[in-house]
Amino acid sequence: MKTIDVCLSPELIHLYDVSNKTVVVVDILRATSCMVTAFAHGVESIVPIADADECMKMKYKGFVVSGERNGQKIEGFDKGNSPFEYMEDAIKGLKIAFTTTNGTQAIEKSKGARQILIGSFLNLSAITKYLLMSDHNILIVCAGWKGKVNLEDSLFAGALVDKLRKHIEPDCDAPIVAQELYLSAKNDMMKFLSTSSHVKRLNKLNIHKDIEFCLTPDQYDVIPALKRGELRLL
Ligand code: MLT
Repeated sequence: MKTIDVCLSPELIHLYDVSNKTVVVVDILRATSCMVTAFAHGVESIVPIADADECMKMKYKGFVVSGERNGQKIEGFDKGNSPFEYMEDAIKGLKIAFTTTNGTQAIEKSKGARQILIGSFLNLSAITKYLLMSDHNILIVCAGWKGKVNLEDSLFAGALVDKLRKHIEPDCDAPIVAQELYLSAKNDMMKFLSTSSHVKRLNKLNIHKDIEFCLTPDQYDVIPALKRGELRLL
């Protein structure tokens, strides 16, 4: 039977052998939710970049530069990190260079995996279907917050484990922890997450609607995948 594991923080990734695994990177609030939204609205590719200065340089190569630090759009960048910025018609065909506080760092740290996919509640069923068909063991990498565990990414990990559990065996206890967390929260995820540190941070920035949207399952049927350093549709 295939196995599933959950890496609750990118700081723990050295404990896992990713070389033969499909890694699902998740940063629910909001990096991977933005990426999924952007592809659903016709973006051609996204280059995830860990360093903000490196990302800015991509502007001179014709890329739209996007991203945030500590939740706020970076000065001089074209776009920030709200999914609502990636729903316009004008997004079609764009090549985006993207940097975020945690999400793009988690992608960087996952390099070396057999395959890297981008997950969010927005494409939960699409990811589930794909993983059920794939032959490879799975690792969900939660972006967390600056190396620390967060609630929202762990919750998504639990939702994905819950959907796959009948067919795929947990590799250690983290998938079981995540699934139990999800089962206790699933009836009102907004309420459950009201104590999350990043929800508090985003509420201060007045972006409540982003949080609500990022927690809505199955809005899109797309799966971004990393190929030769850039994300494209699978
Ligand atoms: C991140 O990558 O840390 C997040 O996407 C931050 C945010 O919500 O803007």
